[in-house]
Amino acid sequence: MSTDSIRIGVINVSDRASKGIYEDIPGKAAVAALREYLISEFDPVYAVIPDEADQIAAALRSMSDEQGCCLIITTGGTGPAPRDVTPEATEEVCQKMMPGFGELMRSVSLQYVPTAILSRQTAGIRGSTLIINLPGKPKAIRECLDAVFPAVPYCIDLIGGPYLEHDPAKIKVFRPKPK
Ligand code: MTE
Repeated sequence: MSTDSIRIGVINVSDRASKGIYEDIPGKAAVAALREYLISEFDPVYAVIPDEADQIAAALRSMSDEQGCCLIITTGGTGPAPRDVTPEATEEVCQKMMPGFGELMRSVSLQYVPTAILSRQTAGIRGSTLIINLPGKPKAIRECLDAVFPAVPYCIDLIGGPYLEHDPAKIKVFRPKPK
């Protein structure tokens, strides 16, 4: 689906945030990082969803198919607890998994916390949308996005999404074949 403006979805997966107990701090942290990296204007599409696989999958489908998001970031629900189901919902909606994202995020995160191995975060492709799972803590969101974002614009180029222009002073993006 093509849209005039670049849209990026941000889904905060949290039982408590979805009940209004917490405000959407993870979603804001993710968008703040993206605004720093990107020169391209984009419209964030926010959702706060409980830890329910069918609701997460529905939000991912809607943001990809109907709202035309080229990138969707999820925050939270990647751990081992019974209600942590974000990776399962991501796998359900993706045609292709991109395991390198989770591998890199876990590896980099181990420099910060030994519990980084508890995150099952992954990434995948649905149509022209790249979906990336991040852990729920705002600090973890930034640590993980800093690690994987250099490969994100080229991945979006390859799946037919919009050309994302970055600020080289803020992040070193790598495109093997520049435009
Ligand atoms: N990754 C980074 N970079 N920083 C962190 O603080 N916390 C870990 C891990 N990954 C963490 C991290 C912890 S304690 C957990 S339980 C898992 O992410 C899962 O977090 P989630 O359930 O919020 O997705």
